[in-house]
Amino acid sequence: MRKPVALVVDDEPAIRELLELTLTRMDVGCVLAADLKQARALLQSQAVDLCLTDMRLPDGNGLELVSHIQAHSPQIPVAVITAHGNVESAVHALKSGAFDFVSKPVDLAALRNLVSTALKLREQRQSGEGRGATRLLGRSPAIEQVRNMVAKVARSQAPVHISGESGSGKELAARLIHEKSARRSQPFMPVNCGAIPENLMESEFFGYRKGAFTGADADRDGFFQAANTGTLFLDEVADLPLAMQVKLLRAIQEKKVRKVGSTQEEPVDVRIISATHQKLGECVEAGKFRHDLYYRLNVIELRMPALREMREDIPQFVSALLDKLARNAGTKKPDVGSEALEELKRYDFPGNVRELENVLERAMALCSDARITAGDLQLTPHDLPEQVVATGGDSKAPLQDYLDRVEKEAILEALEKTRYNRTAAAKLLGITFRSMRYRMERLGLN
Ligand SMILES: Nc1ncnc2c1ncn2[C@@H]1O[C@H](COP(=O)(O)OP(=O)(O)OP(=O)(O)O)[C@@H](O)[C@H]1O
Ligand SMILES: [Mg+2]
Repeated sequence: MRKPVALVVDDEPAIRELLELTLTRMDVGCVLAADLKQARALLQSQAVDLCLTDMRLPDGNGLELVSHIQAHSPQIPVAVITAHGNVESAVHALKSGAFDFVSKPVDLAALRNLVSTALKLREQRQSGEGRGATRLLGRSPAIEQVRNMVAKVARSQAPVHISGESGSGKELAARLIHEKSARRSQPFMPVNCGAIPENLMESEFFGYRKGAFTGADADRDGFFQAANTGTLFLDEVADLPLAMQVKLLRAIQEKKVRKVGSTQEEPVDVRIISATHQKLGECVEAGKFRHDLYYRLNVIELRMPALREMREDIPQFVSALLDKLARNAGTKKPDVGSEALEELKRYDFPGNVRELENVLERAMALCSDARITAGDLQLTPHDLPEQVVATGGDSKAPLQDYLDRVEKEAILEALEKTRYNRTAAAKLLGITFRSMRYRMERLGLN
């Protein structure tokens, strides 16, 4: 492979020299430009694998170069050099497609990390890597747009916030971004922010030193250290308590963390992806989520569509999910009757793809002769009062409780009428004996 070449754009000769020296030591070739005009000319005449540009240039703004490269050679990662503490311009650059940023005065360790991450993308492209096992199903415009965004943000280090309803594939998208990124051979660390007790949060995120508290009998790393050089996925980020939000913001801003009980900070290099099924903007308005942290996390927003926005893809989802379920269960893939398929296409799926998976798994258990009929689907009716429907999808939700109660009553009544003859009771209810047995087991009626 040819030695990589970086284009360095800065009007200050001293900074150009410092950057050139650092890059040369990393065995990266350098071409230097003092303004936008020279930079554009060099891009025309030279093969360039990476670009580092200052923001304020004599003939314009570094962002113009970011856009120029986005338009003409999007495979070249561009990092911008921003004035210290200028969060706004860094966020702006990332939104315009910059790969990453470094702030002045340039921290050489951070710069070296940035350069080696950027060059990994090139190695991966040249070795033809990039086909992970994870895959998004669907061909509708909504999911195609997600696929394009995933490919685009995978090339950058920008923080991504993934929104979308429960079960719509937020975690799947986060994994995909990681798998397609330069960090793919590094750890992907998912953290459910809603599941950590508040008093343990700081030590879970940042680690602790031996003796920091009772029970701390050895030094331990936290999520940040475990995710170092990789991706930290903050799931259900809206559930973070405000006190922790402050600490998290500091860690992200400084790219440094301090273990509980330690006096020293250690540098960490993590890419942050966050997600929640709540509307984070509304949490900010309600004062439950800090605006400054929101601003930092939500640099790029990726919205996962609800399954009902991709109705035309439902047959493909059904087929692929049944393939997977049958493979896992070691059974034959069942057929789906046309009536059943029509019903699935009409249904609203408040629990999205996860709900579809559950519906199909249950239908596989209920169906006979490897054929799923509309009755095996047991879809919940649409015309329930709104406040009940709104919480559907979760097994502990009022809707499920309500439906379970109705089902239990109907079964008990039929059993009483038939003197506890299950075959006769099933007939009375218009369901198969297998279905009767399954439902009774599920409801604990034995
Ligand atoms: N487009 C898709 N293609 C293939 N599988 C999908 C797709 N969307 C979701 N899934 C599958 O649906 C299930 C739920 O997805 P995931 O856990 O990513 O959802 P989520 O948005 O994180 O949900 P929650 O808000 O409940 O945490 C997973 O098994 C996932 O693989
Ligand atoms: Mg999830």
